[in-house]
Amino acid sequence: MSDLRGARILLGVSGGIAAYKAALLARLLVGAGATVDPVLTRGARHFVGAATFEGITGRHVRDEVWQDIPDETHVALGRAADVAVVYPATANVLAKLAGGHADDLLTTTLLAATCPLVVAPAMHTEMWEHAATRRNAAVLRERGVDVLGPAVGPLMGGDAGAGRLVEPDEAYARIVAHLQATRSRRDDLAGRRVLVTAGGTREPIDPVRFLGNRSSGKMGFAVAAAAAARGAKVDLVAAPSSLATPPGVERHDVTTALEMRDAVLARVDAVDVVVKAAAVADFRPAQAAASKLKKAAGAPRLELVPNPDILAELGARKAGGGLRALLVGFAAETDDVEAYGRDKLARKNADLLVVNDVGAADAGFGVDTNRVVILGRDGSRVEVALAAKTMVADRILDEVAARLRQG
Ligand code: PMT
Repeated sequence: MSDLRGARILLGVSGGIAAYKAALLARLLVGAGATVDPVLTRGARHFVGAATFEGITGRHVRDEVWQDIPDETHVALGRAADVAVVYPATANVLAKLAGGHADDLLTTTLLAATCPLVVAPAMHTEMWEHAATRRNAAVLRERGVDVLGPAVGPLMGGDAGAGRLVEPDEAYARIVAHLQATRSRRDDLAGRRVLVTAGGTREPIDPVRFLGNRSSGKMGFAVAAAAAARGAKVDLVAAPSSLATPPGVERHDVTTALEMRDAVLARVDAVDVVVKAAAVADFRPAQAAASKLKKAAGAPRLELVPNPDILAELGARKAGGGLRALLVGFAAETDDVEAYGRDKLARKNADLLVVNDVGAADAGFGVDTNRVVILGRDGSRVEVALAAKTMVADRILDEVAARLRQG
């Protein structure tokens, strides 16, 4: 049993037959020393009584936005929580969370909460497999919500299938994992300098056209934001991207691969870590036309020349003892992703290489989610299942922080 003293858990319970299991989860949490704030929906109260939760948690059960108005209950509960969990989460609650609704105390509180959120769906298989529910779950995952389950097994009314609430000990373990991750990440990069590259470089053909790629910058910006949140001083070298600069991050805008190389080389000696999430064009037009190429002149013949490989250049410097920074590269692959990733790790002399399958619709370019394998030069291999890029960024930085600690 973990020691959860000092941890505050917001336990949302919505209306399903499995709501009784929330009492068992509350007992596990309270038994480990956590303070549990139960918030029951109107539906939940048809299945379990507030008195059960008050007895187990020793806390007043809130169920209405209109109670205790001067205390701003929803804001206070949301802000105080270290982890929020909705157990069980009905199809209706998933839909409301995905849509950002705030029409009862639970949904209002969760809109005000900034802590990790775990939702454990429970419903009949047909409801779980409905396109609307699948979409709502996907939206929540993209937003960084941890959708736990549902399990496959016996359901109410003699049915069986996907839709069963995960057991209390599984939900408990996941809550503990979130608490531990939050605690161990707090300021673990304080005093460190991190340089991140993000976005896709653009190589001009003429004043209006360029060779580019589909990188939005989301992955790199997520790494920069997470590193800053963990206490690092962060420089972000950003190829064109419409994303806002994350708080606490110093941004340096560039357009081409050559400009990115200059911006990286100007800073690399001062940093502890370089994360190269940018998609850098491997080739550029040998000559950019000074004025717009005219269609009437026919299709232009583009002569391409190779761009410098910035990561490989840093890797070579590191091998020669001329660079101390930990090097984290990415590999965007579509087939044999891990084998190509291993090859890049060795060829470019990186310390870590994050391999992503950019052929998948829900990973890689443009989307808010990613699915990666983090390969280490030391032979380590960490698989990160489909998750919001913000969560993937933290998993990458966990590996970085562990290596910095080792010195
Ligand atoms: O920006 P998003 O829309 O969120 O998409 C994220 C992403 C798919 C762009 C990101 O996760 C990713 O995979 N980035 C690396 C893309 C890439 O260029 O991969 P690559 O396999 O071609 O390059 C391998 C590594 O070498 C990368 O770290 C790259 O930054 C670096 N490189 C490549 C070419 C070059 N000329 N110079 C480099 O430094």
